[in-house]
Amino acid sequence: MQNKLALVRASAVVVLVAASSPGLAQGRNVFEQTCAACHLGGVGGAPSIHDRQTWRVRLRQGEAVLVQHALDGHGAMPPRGGNAMLSDAQVRAAVRYMISRAMAAQRGTP
Ligand code: HEC
Repeated sequence: MQNKLALVRASAVVVLVAASSPGLAQGRNVFEQTCAACHLGGVGGAPSIHDRQTWRVRLRQGEAVLVQHALDGHGAMPPRGGNAMLSDAQVRAAVRYMISRAMAAQRGTP
């Protein structure tokens, strides 16, 4: 019984890891095709993925709010980054990818 439980736990971890990596890969694709134009270099006040501090401040609203702003548009940012073909899941994946890139960036690097 104990062994069986351990096995179930181990496979659950495998599933979780497998589920998160394709999400980031999908987010990267969406980012590169739609969001990078503004968010790579911080065009027009867009938070750059190289600027961890900016993202930390924005993250205080919670990830769900950031995703909602990306879907609806926010300030100078067009809804879905101007690509109406993107699904909610694709936009969410792109936001998560940007957050993970920003958190890995050196503080203050342009
Ligand atoms: C045309 C330029 C442009 C494109 C393309 C673009 N953004 Fe933005 N984005 C902006 C600007 C400008 C802001 C800052 C808006 C503000 O805070 O006033 C922003 C802000 C954001 C924020 C932070 C919102 C908040 O509440 O602080 C998120 C998340 C975001 N964009 C996600 C995305 C995603 C995901 C994509 C691609 C699907 C994308 N953006 C494409 C210009 C762009």
